[in-house]
Amino acid sequence: MKNTVNSSTPQGVVSLRAEYRQDALGVGVTRPRLSWNVQVDRPGWEQSAYQLTCDRGQGLIEQASRVETGNSTLVAWPFAPLRSRERVSVQLTVWGRDGQPLQTRIPLQVEAGLLDPGDWRARFITSGVDEDPAVEHPAALFRCEFEVKPGLVSARLYSSALGVYEALLNGGPVSDAVLSPGWTSYKHRLRYQVTDVTGMLATGDNLLAARVGEGWFRGRIGFLGGRRNRYGERTAFLGQLELRYADGSIDHVITDPAIGWSCSTGGIRMSSIYDGETYDARLEPQGWTEPGFDARAWSGVREVAWDLQTLTAEEGPAVRRTEVLRPVAISRSPAGKLLVDFGQNLVGWTRIRVSGRAGRTITLRHAEVLEGGELCTRPLRIAKATDTYILRGEGVEVWEPRFTFHGFRYVEVEGWPGELAADDIAGVVVHSDMVRTGWFECSNAEVNRLHENVVWGMRGNFLDIPTDCPQRDERLGWTGDLQVFAPTATYLFDVGGFLSSWLRDLAAEQGEDGMLPILVPDTIRVRPSCAGWGDAAAIVPWVLYERTGDVGVLQRQYASMKGWVEQVLDRVSGSGLWDWGMQLGDWLDPGAPGHEGGRRTNPYVVASAFLVNSLSIVTRVARILGETEDEARYNAAWQRTRDAFRAHYVTSAGRVMSDSQTAYAMALRFGLLDEEQREAAGARLNELVAQEGFRIGTGFLGTPLVCDALVETGHLDTAYRLLLQTEAPSWLYAVRLGATTIWERWDSLLPDGSVNPNEMTSFNHYAFGAIADWLHRCVGGLAPGAPGYRKVIVQPQPGGDLAWARTRHITPYGEAAVRWEIKSGMLRVEAVVPPNTTADVRLPGQPAFTVGAGDHAWEVPYAPASTATPLTVDSNLVDLRADKALWAALAAAIGAVDASATAWLDSPSLAVVKAQTLRDVLGLHSRYRDLVEAVQSVFQKA
Ligand code: BGC
Repeated sequence: MKNTVNSSTPQGVVSLRAEYRQDALGVGVTRPRLSWNVQVDRPGWEQSAYQLTCDRGQGLIEQASRVETGNSTLVAWPFAPLRSRERVSVQLTVWGRDGQPLQTRIPLQVEAGLLDPGDWRARFITSGVDEDPAVEHPAALFRCEFEVKPGLVSARLYSSALGVYEALLNGGPVSDAVLSPGWTSYKHRLRYQVTDVTGMLATGDNLLAARVGEGWFRGRIGFLGGRRNRYGERTAFLGQLELRYADGSIDHVITDPAIGWSCSTGGIRMSSIYDGETYDARLEPQGWTEPGFDARAWSGVREVAWDLQTLTAEEGPAVRRTEVLRPVAISRSPAGKLLVDFGQNLVGWTRIRVSGRAGRTITLRHAEVLEGGELCTRPLRIAKATDTYILRGEGVEVWEPRFTFHGFRYVEVEGWPGELAADDIAGVVVHSDMVRTGWFECSNAEVNRLHENVVWGMRGNFLDIPTDCPQRDERLGWTGDLQVFAPTATYLFDVGGFLSSWLRDLAAEQGEDGMLPILVPDTIRVRPSCAGWGDAAAIVPWVLYERTGDVGVLQRQYASMKGWVEQVLDRVSGSGLWDWGMQLGDWLDPGAPGHEGGRRTNPYVVASAFLVNSLSIVTRVARILGETEDEARYNAAWQRTRDAFRAHYVTSAGRVMSDSQTAYAMALRFGLLDEEQREAAGARLNELVAQEGFRIGTGFLGTPLVCDALVETGHLDTAYRLLLQTEAPSWLYAVRLGATTIWERWDSLLPDGSVNPNEMTSFNHYAFGAIADWLHRCVGGLAPGAPGYRKVIVQPQPGGDLAWARTRHITPYGEAAVRWEIKSGMLRVEAVVPPNTTADVRLPGQPAFTVGAGDHAWEVPYAPASTATPLTVDSNLVDLRADKALWAALAAAIGAVDASATAWLDSPSLAVVKAQTLRDVLGLHSRYRDLVEAVQSVFQKA
């Protein structure tokens, strides 16, 4: 085995960050934890100490003492707590084991937001006009003129809204954030935004303005018709502009009915998250966002009572426009409709550039798929997903909606004046602007497309909250969907801030009794306590901890985790199992069409398995947090429940009740079996997958588990066959049918290309994309070996016909990467191990070893594991048919016994009788023994 190490990089501390933010403007805590990465060219570099310095301005420098430690992520703030609005500059020196110091290249600017509700002088203001809450209303426009004196040194806008808003200063939006303040459990937590607006102001007259739409706050939200006014009947704006002058004085411009604010409506006649936006450009008052506009006809404003204690700083990134796509085709449908195809199922909206006469109306209808060449809006259910633009009629007009979003690949355009050119229409991609941290690629183009689809699925569904889907009348924070996708999400993007915010909402929405909504933020108020969904309370913080090393998130969520398992323990029946009540089960199990809850795997087997898993997580968390009594309690409950599971659902020989892919995947991954049972269960899982023609047989809950369960019981080859399968149900089936995102159902499109007639059929649901985590860890070979990747596991496991793969992840310590390639009987593996970490390296056929930071390469002899278990009468028909010569010989031998029997070999009714092996087929015949004998001789000759 050869090993080479080399590296040449500039030295220093890079990416110092406060909590999960590199841009630390408006942090919401007094003691933000700090993390950093270093860049060094010394292989094996490890940190031995660090020292932080804080410049608090006006010559006040606070130097913390040097800390002898290797810790470099989320370390405690060593300085005096931040005060509201305080801005400091933090520098860092770290020392390696070699004693050499490294320094911050660019100090980190940390600025606190408004940390105390008493800091808010502003009040929420709404229009002075009465409104009927039952009907939709135009967006409200607010404006207020103010004066800036000479000598301005800095200006900050603190703002939020009941609804969704855009704040403007002197004609332009204050930031590139859209759909602010996003969606949280508003009654508990309403985010505010902090913007540095110094550069937007000039001495003299200035104008602060805002547009506020109904958004999630007041607009219709929820399925089965949904409901308006979930959080309140009035939309409102909150703004506090603070102007600091050179002489130390501060002016405030605040929303307050007593100050000169006026309100009206403009172009946005209607805006709805689900239905779209209608904009009449003729009705937008010209110049209203600039000082000097005559607003005498506008109404005054009123205060809306809202608890300012709910105001909370942002933790994750804002929602922004992140990409603009051009059409790949503009065409006429068979019915003559004008259709634009963006070539990619995306989430966001359409931007148009148009000129025409005043009053001309352009309608843009959005959908993910076509059917019969026409826009297929059936899967949207009652979401209209339609934007309407009415021209002002003055030259070139450029427009895009503000307070809605759509999931779409196609747009049907109506009313366009003249010819629609590709330059006149664009697809604007919108989502939480998370930093990309994970990549994967391999020698199979279809697998690469699958991975791309996962990334697009995540982009579309991480729009302020993690949603199930982005297009129909849902777009809700289904907890189960995120639970299965969280490991993938944490690899692909930096989701630390995004998910910790969502988890706060989860805890806030949890009842005193520990009951959780199945949606966060909750919109249905029914709390069915469902396994796999409620378990998000334990699993998601655990995944975050595993991937980021954040113990704080465990501390914060601990009560919520406990609350969840405690209330399930209360439900456990006399059997010791969670075996009653409503369950969603292995949702969308492909073997149970029409039964979304899945029927192949008994939902109580699922529920009890998840309970054991969550108890195991809570036990580990209790240990980490030093909660010894809890640890003993949950450990005992874990053991009891696991024993009950074994007693009721597992035979001593390792068969698991329901005998399904999901049942075995859970039993193996959740530690429900003893050693001997594990082996037998692995073998049975392998057999089941083979019997199903190497097609996936899992729903939401089993999908993230099944490939790992196969690999860890020695069936890597079968896991690859599942991955590379192209017939339905499988991951690549969708890719073959042209999918550009992950579908909700394995067959959202049916093999004939028609849309699955089920009314719940989305083309952008990330749950089945959970396979990407396995791609990263097992195919790519990069996995966390200790919380936050302090230790990395480098273990590529080549298989299928893949010739190479590579994956990369920006860990909390910096970039880690693995690349492998099979060439001339050798497996060459290259790895990048981040500074201050080590890697456990496990190469095929080699003893494991450990290496330090740096670039590494190894070469080991490699022969693909022989997939050629000899073909026999018990082999799968799929494998037998693949060997054409053998298949012909078998057919001939069977024909010699009974000419009519050969017709059975390819009969479609084999699927009905579930014949998977040749023996299954021959067993249908009265001359079974003769036939077996005849084919045996063929196998012997082969
Ligand atoms: C959602 C799912 C969700 C499920 C649970 C569906 O309507 O789209 O993804 O988890 O309901 O009931």
